[in-house]
Amino acid sequence: MNAITFFNLKGGTGKTTLCSSLGWLLAEEGHSVLMIDLDPQGHLTQSLQGRPDAGKPSLYYSLIQEPTLVKSIIPTTHPNLSLIPATEDHLYLNTALMSQPWPEWKLKDALSVMVPFPYDWVMIDVGASLNLITFNALFAAKTLIIPVLPDVFSYLSLKTLFSFLEKTNRDFRYDFKMIWILMNKLNNHRPSDRENREALKKYYQKFLMPVAVREDPKFSEAIKNQLPVTTFAPQSIAARDLKKVVHFLKKVFPPTPSPDKPEFENAN
Ligand SMILES: Nc1ncnc2c1ncn2[C@@H]1O[C@H](COP(=O)(O)OP(=O)(O)OP(=O)(O)O)[C@@H](O)[C@H]1O
Ligand SMILES: [Mg+2]
Repeated sequence: MNAITFFNLKGGTGKTTLCSSLGWLLAEEGHSVLMIDLDPQGHLTQSLQGRPDAGKPSLYYSLIQEPTLVKSIIPTTHPNLSLIPATEDHLYLNTALMSQPWPEWKLKDALSVMVPFPYDWVMIDVGASLNLITFNALFAAKTLIIPVLPDVFSYLSLKTLFSFLEKTNRDFRYDFKMIWILMNKLNNHRPSDRENREALKKYYQKFLMPVAVREDPKFSEAIKNQLPVTTFAPQSIAARDLKKVVHFLKKVFPPTPSPDKPEFENAN
């Protein structure tokens, strides 16, 4: 399973937009994808037009009452794409987690009992806050993508975020396999954007994804038209950049071993 959490302490950097668009693209390319909306705002759910089924147990139920995530998964308009939607009780999830044993690991545990795991990719969207839901989002994935805007405040807030990640790593002995800073809303014609990109390259070189997503109004037009941007405007800058990011992710992620074949089949 390739699991990615999209997180930044700074709000509005494109976490949901990128999580949703990249997940959709992976599904279009034939991969089975599970998206998890951990943000009570529910924007990921809305962008996928996920309609939580009133008769289905919510994520809250699956984490707090009975750890069976499968029950909270709903289909989307793409056959390869499934969703654990945000529901109203997300608002109370953090408080409910407080009285649980090992509350930071609930989502990871719930995912790991799904054997064999039916998805190639898991994409998790979480809000820009620090609480038990955030830890669940972080610990359920071995890869973190940090969408960052090309402005000074975004750049400065990375320092705080990396201190937090280091402390988390020490306190919980949790190591991310990969952390990628993904520059979003880049406009190469703006000198300040270019300067900020250079600063990121200089100080965060090993984390900076070599591809970026440029600013494109097609993102908001696609939302208005209730379509993924790659379907709404397949030739747009947005679609082209997202494809490059997917290509990059497929390159850096080790191929998921097929459940039918032993992992070491190429050893000799
Ligand atoms: N590359 C881009 N070009 C133009 N607009 C973009 C781009 N990426 C995101 N946006 C727009 O920026 C706004 C914020 O994006 P989004 O909601 O994905 O951020 P977020 O980090 O999830 O916010 P929050 O912290 O509230 O969860 C949205 O209106 C989205 O359409
Ligand atoms: Mg969001």
